[in-house]
Amino acid sequence: MEAIGVFDSGVGGLTVLKELREILPHEHYIYFADTKNLPYGPKPNRQIQDLAQKAVDHFLDLGIKGLVIACNTATGAALHLLEDQLDIPIIGVIEPGAKVAMSMSREKTFCLLATQATVKRGLYKRYLMDLDKDAKVLTQACPHLVTAVEDGFGDHYIGRTMAYEYLDQVEGDYDTLILGCTHFPLAMEGFKDYFRDKGRDVTIVDPAKACALEAKAKIPGNVSGPLKIDYYCSGDRLRFKEVADKLLNEDIRVRPWK
Ligand code: DGL
Repeated sequence: MEAIGVFDSGVGGLTVLKELREILPHEHYIYFADTKNLPYGPKPNRQIQDLAQKAVDHFLDLGIKGLVIACNTATGAALHLLEDQLDIPIIGVIEPGAKVAMSMSREKTFCLLATQATVKRGLYKRYLMDLDKDAKVLTQACPHLVTAVEDGFGDHYIGRTMAYEYLDQVEGDYDTLILGCTHFPLAMEGFKDYFRDKGRDVTIVDPAKACALEAKAKIPGNVSGPLKIDYYCSGDRLRFKEVADKLLNEDIRVRPWK
């Protein structure tokens, strides 16, 4: 049975994996967290492409029938290059995220929270404006929130304080907040509290489910069989396990990624 590869720089992609296992429950997943190279966000495009390429080469050695890039930063930098060279389905987070955000927005006014690389790459804005040329898109890079979530502080006051700080920096009005980094849904309570405190009615969009649904549409799924997930990590496995165990409420085994 061939596996579905799921790839992120760290724990953020687990938000997508959670949706995948709900929507495609009979699969074997190989989850790779490239924590040795986290954060991807401040890195130049070229370097992110090289890291994604290296990850994909090893996924192919392990044997996969489809790949989900559960990382907005890697999707933005490398999806188009990988699509050209792979003959298996490959799914990113940005396009499904932009589509679902558009469908949920009342006024077509958006604020994108993402890494520096994703903001700079501008793909969310491009997809949103392709869907509606009058869409208004504000952006805010939130680099420190990635590392806070990776360290297990997403739903801690540290993550919450960062959510407030970053949202306070956004100038202008919007009715839809896009969490354009897979780490950010892990700080969800801070975002919700912020809008509640301000008395604002803002829809918060996590692209994870839309990405998983696209995976279901594109990857030939198994109709029966057990769910199996193998976790791999390129950096400190114990550290990844500690945070991932809490997020998943499980006791996972983490293998080294070569
Ligand atoms: N989780 C990632 C994303 O969706 C990347 C975070 C990072 O490594 O900077 O962009």
